[in-house]
Amino acid sequence: MQKSWRSVMLLCLILVMTGVLFVGCTQKAPNQPTTATIPEGELDPAVWGKVYPDHYASYLKQKEQTKGNSKFGGSLPESHLKESPAQVKLFAGYPFSEDYNEERGHIWALEDVINTQRIGPKTISSCWNCKSPNVKPLVDKMGDTFWATPFLELKDQIKHPIACANCHDPKTMALAITSIPLLDALKTRGIDPVKFSRQEMRTMVCAQCHVEYYFKPDNKKVTFPWKYGLKMDDAEKLYEELNFKDWDHKESQAPMLKAQHPDYELFSTGVHAANGVACADCHMPYVKQGQTKISSHHLQSPLNHISQSCQTCHKQSEEYLKNQVIGTQETVFKTKVLLETALSDAIDAITIAAKNPAAKADMMTQARSLHRKAGWRWDFVSSENSMGWHSPKEALRILGEGIDMARQAQLKANLAVGAAVEGAAGADAGKTPGAGTSVEAAGPETTPKQ
Ligand code: HEC
Ligand code: HEC
Ligand code: HEC
Ligand code: HEC
Repeated sequence: MQKSWRSVMLLCLILVMTGVLFVGCTQKAPNQPTTATIPEGELDPAVWGKVYPDHYASYLKQKEQTKGNSKFGGSLPESHLKESPAQVKLFAGYPFSEDYNEERGHIWALEDVINTQRIGPKTISSCWNCKSPNVKPLVDKMGDTFWATPFLELKDQIKHPIACANCHDPKTMALAITSIPLLDALKTRGIDPVKFSRQEMRTMVCAQCHVEYYFKPDNKKVTFPWKYGLKMDDAEKLYEELNFKDWDHKESQAPMLKAQHPDYELFSTGVHAANGVACADCHMPYVKQGQTKISSHHLQSPLNHISQSCQTCHKQSEEYLKNQVIGTQETVFKTKVLLETALSDAIDAITIAAKNPAAKADMMTQARSLHRKAGWRWDFVSSENSMGWHSPKEALRILGEGIDMARQAQLKANLAVGAAVEGAAGADAGKTPGAGTSVEAAGPETTPKQ
């Protein structure tokens, strides 16, 4: 009798405990979806937000615009051209000399691409690529005709800025690569994306967009120059092979390359990548949102949450870590300014030499080629978003090479006329008007990136 009473008590206790546990679980499990599901093909983040309200609330914080703790980054759309006027000259003849702002939160991506003065009637749809989850379904429908379609023609079909569907599979919520150019690039390199570990995916979803790219000359498709590897030199090797140029410099007439935010590539050469640290470790740390802890979807400068971003691995103080970042950035910035001065001097020397009809054509070609290479090095670091911090040694190596090449360009241009002047006593001095001003043909017509 007593025994069965005890069993009943025990059973009740177990039932109550399980109940408590169960209730506790449902309250504690932060990322359990509610009963609602995300319809297949849904692109609107507000609809995903009904199932994941905390993640959506975190995502909406990207609207905030502040300099925060940054010196060189931050979420204010400040003009790079005002911050560094030398850039107007370095980009002469290219739309970036007219309008070039600091980037801000993903949620602004559509507004910013539509409003930039770099967009015109000749702009193509490739420029939508990194701005919206609407791109993939459109390419699935239109095939490779998508890329060269006029930008404004598809404006009504591009409805949402970068959102959940760019990085997640709506059924499983697993991270997903949805960028067609990244899938292509991985194929070129013989990498199977299915084999990425979870930690690798926490970087690869960012490598969908935070990378260098060019438009393939035949169909204008966004393409990553990864054939020979991820380094600055590897991309340059491919561009040389393709005879690729983005524009002719208005003053020096050199066939120039424009770099596009190679964040992933520069990062890949650094100490954190070597230690398996992912973009999301620093830019999407676990934070408290509402009642729960989630991966922050307010992607921004890690300097605004050093404790969550860095102190999970580093035991130094916040102040030390912040100064470490900004101190490193200042070193890179100063070296970058040295290269800007060297490039500016090279442009002047080439422009002046080109006015001299006796300038030696081969030397002028070499000077322009050096200008192209030095400009590429400058822009690779300059357009990367962390002011070199993602891989400081590599950034400084690239800038160092750039300074040397820009000064060599200046020297060659001076020699081209110096040599010509010396030879002026000779019979045919002055008989070759225009020599040296001739622009080298840069192979197939290529389309500038915008
Ligand atoms: C070890 C930490 C860490 C990792 C990992 C990391 N970053 Fe950063 N990132 C930073 C810091 C620090 C800055 C500089 C922020 C500043 O200047 O305010 C930065 C800056 C940026 C910026 C500019 C932010 C701004 O406010 O202007 C972007 C974009 C960015 N990183 C993208 C990436 C991508 C993409 C990856 C992976 C390929 C990555 N980061 C990996 C720490 C990291
Ligand atoms: C730029 C890429 C990106 C976008 C856009 C994005 N996420 Fe995430 N999300 C991530 C990453 C990275 C993680 C961490 C995944 C991991 O650690 O496996 C994550 C994790 C999650 C998780 C798992 C729980 C957690 O907090 O780690 C949920 C749920 C989620 N995201 C929902 C959303 C929703 C809803 C949206 C749109 C409002 C969204 N995400 C937009 C990259 C993204
Ligand atoms: C679909 C393309 C896309 C993906 C995927 C993407 N980004 Fe971005 N990211 C952008 C664009 C475009 C901007 C600039 C938006 C603007 O200025 O309007 C940006 C801006 C940023 C910024 C600057 C925010 C600020 O406030 O200044 C950071 C930091 C950042 N991204 C980090 C990441 C990280 C980390 C990942 C991966 C988890 C990632 N991004 C994935 C396209 C993307
Ligand atoms: C997931 C772990 C992890 C996170 C998060 C992380 N780091 Fe690191 N960090 C490392 C490791 C590992 C190393 C390499 C240590 C070594 O080689 O001795 C490193 C190296 C460094 C170094 C030395 C760099 C060099 O050139 O030797 C600095 C400085 C640094 N981290 C700062 C930061 C800052 C600032 C943040 C946040 C924005 C951060 N780290 C976030 C793991 C991390």
